[in-house]
Amino acid sequence: MLSSLETHVKRLPDDFLFGVATSSYQIEGSNFGGCGLSHWHEFAKKSGRVFNQDDGTIACNHYHLWETDLNLVRDAGFKSYRFSFSWPRLLPENSKKINPEGISFYDKLIDGMLDRGIKPFATLYHWDLPVRHAKKGGWQMRDTANYFADYTDLIMRSFGDRLFSVAPINEPWCVAWLSHYWGHHAPGVESLSSAAKAMHFVQLAHGLSIQVMRSYGHRYLGCVLNKEYAVPFDDTDETVRLTDLFDAIYNKWFDQSIFAGSYPREALALFEEHMPNNYIDDLSIISQPLDWVGTNYYTRSIIKPDKLETGIGFRCIRGDLPKTDMGWEIAPEGLAHFIKRTAENYAPQLPHYITENGMASTDIIQQGKINDIDRVDYFDRHLQIITDLKLQGVNLAGYFAWSLLDNYEWAYGYAKRFGIVHVDYKTQKRMPKLSYRAWQKALTR
Ligand code: FCB
Repeated sequence: MLSSLETHVKRLPDDFLFGVATSSYQIEGSNFGGCGLSHWHEFAKKSGRVFNQDDGTIACNHYHLWETDLNLVRDAGFKSYRFSFSWPRLLPENSKKINPEGISFYDKLIDGMLDRGIKPFATLYHWDLPVRHAKKGGWQMRDTANYFADYTDLIMRSFGDRLFSVAPINEPWCVAWLSHYWGHHAPGVESLSSAAKAMHFVQLAHGLSIQVMRSYGHRYLGCVLNKEYAVPFDDTDETVRLTDLFDAIYNKWFDQSIFAGSYPREALALFEEHMPNNYIDDLSIISQPLDWVGTNYYTRSIIKPDKLETGIGFRCIRGDLPKTDMGWEIAPEGLAHFIKRTAENYAPQLPHYITENGMASTDIIQQGKINDIDRVDYFDRHLQIITDLKLQGVNLAGYFAWSLLDNYEWAYGYAKRFGIVHVDYKTQKRMPKLSYRAWQKALTR
């Protein structure tokens, strides 16, 4: 009898790419190999907003255990590994002095993937901004976008021809809005004016980085955008208007600027007075042609008017659907919505990857095993959407489970577990969960 994951895998063509994802700060261990400080380290220690003040200094010690981890990727049958480079590891002190240990680490990691038949699916920035840039205003400054282009150049020179695909920035909404309006992530700023600037410069950094990579002749470049499905709390005109505003800030801002060279007017009306001078001139840089589009998808939000939320006028709440350990509702229909909308509005011809999807659960160890049946079910329900759309002719090219390992879940520290492999942070022992075995069974038929 086929398991649910096996059934989906069987329905998809052989060249559909299954992979698994992680990111540098969440797993590597920033204490090792000459890595410099990132703003996450400062945020974890000083802001009071990170559970337990946990930081990524040791994390999963992937810096030393990368071979074990790549073997896990290979043995599960994944054909691609989505990982990120750490900017402060490669350039710990300044923008000129390259850390040889950093180069050597990624050399080994990438060659290790290629030796194992795993395609390197790289992200250049997954939130570990060198603290020196953060101190000068970080993503609120045009300079940071220019420095990011230089950093991209270093990566292309050193590793570019071995990377199957590259996306410049993971989840620009989190980099900009979550971190500069809500203040939930580093650098923890809460200001509409700062957020508006970050919303623009993070997009500019994307465009400049793509230009650099094109100049090296790279031919498989994309973007990784997180999408959250917005549902109005009620059907009054005001709630519907606010839901559109949420959708414009969270979702449309990023794909519309990349694929259509403009920002959505609902969001611009709110940001206009705070936008950097001459921002319109940058839109042609932001809207560089891409070769694929990536979506990270986890949940939905219910949008409720709230007058106390000055500026935006709404709050995001959760509804009655079953929830993950993050409190996030499980709402796979939102994934279908975004895949169809992206294809219809912007990119019918481009291959579409789901670059992250997964859930946190409490994962109790019983008799040496973790039977995370809820996680298998989560993957199953989202893959159902993917197989259905693929059979309808949508150009879906791959799916990456988040995450290979339990790891540093940002403001939640080590309290939330997303891995298909359990990590004991005291011993650094890896233990595949039932979900890992389910993938392995489905992918290594
Ligand atoms: C995404 C992030 C990733 C991880 C998952 C749960 O927003 O890209 O690093 O934290 O959420």
